[in-house]
Amino acid sequence: MKCHLCGVKEAVVYQLHTSKALCRDCFINDILKRVELEIKKYNLIKSNERVLLAISGGKDSFTLLDVMSKIHSSSKLIALTLIEGIEGYNRADVLDFMKSKTRELGIDHIVLTLKEAVGASVDEFVKNMVLKNIKIPPCTYCGIARRRAINKVAREQGVDKVATAHVLDDEAQTYVMNILRGDTMRLVQVHPKGPWLSKLFIRKVKPLRKIYERETALYAYFHGYKFQERECPYITHIPTLRARVRDYLYRLELEKPGSLLRLVELLDEALSDYVKKYYELPELPHCKMCGEPTSYNREICKFCELLMSVGLIK
Ligand code: FES
Ligand code: ZN
Repeated sequence: MKCHLCGVKEAVVYQLHTSKALCRDCFINDILKRVELEIKKYNLIKSNERVLLAISGGKDSFTLLDVMSKIHSSSKLIALTLIEGIEGYNRADVLDFMKSKTRELGIDHIVLTLKEAVGASVDEFVKNMVLKNIKIPPCTYCGIARRRAINKVAREQGVDKVATAHVLDDEAQTYVMNILRGDTMRLVQVHPKGPWLSKLFIRKVKPLRKIYERETALYAYFHGYKFQERECPYITHIPTLRARVRDYLYRLELEKPGSLLRLVELLDEALSDYVKKYYELPELPHCKMCGEPTSYNREICKFCELLMSVGLIK
């Protein structure tokens, strides 16, 4: 079958949400165009801005790196990989592959352990938690510590934006979860024009937020990425809200391809005026211990609270 877009080359991909068969080149161009469109639509990144790319080494972050190198000047990009410090999870072969990719693209690449960046690895946190006989999901520390580390490096590097590799599937899940929880504060933060609550936070953007995960898998594969994602040993098999929402949305997408895209587009549109209400909120207060921003109702930030609870700071 010939490609539905160029009509010349053989189609190798069936794009479910448009019912089109595409050749490799048209598939890649389509992704690049859609990312550029999203960036332009919400003015996510200006052409002169310096951007830190948070790349874990998975297919989504590989795609982010490759796409950004094609649509933004490489000299204005810096890559950051954080090593969580989870025995058996952080793979040296994936890191080497990402390092050779950034070298090939001429992008500076910072590799840091979570311990170097914020003081404690995930394993260290868990070990102390077990000693104190308390239960906190390791993901809670992992997520908060990673966000803190990324923001810290972004500030040190003086970049204008931080780009993460969240894809459409993540955005749809996060939107739905926040609706189900009735959490409007978090809901507006999913929106590309969500409020900026502290000058100490470097603005985050998600260039791949309209690209399906199945598309990043193909994009990465077409560019030589060949790794199987390894499961984190701390992953919980108790169905979390995200896991349940993910399953439900996937079934919906299977029955009606394009559902996730329509859901995110509709919510973006519907919330575009609503998010502005949050622009008037005051700047977030600062944590009494570390000086970083904390929630309105907290004196000590969640990160310091977590470290204190396991005895890693006093
Ligand atoms: Fe949560 Fe690894 S720490 S999945
Ligand atoms: Zn703090």
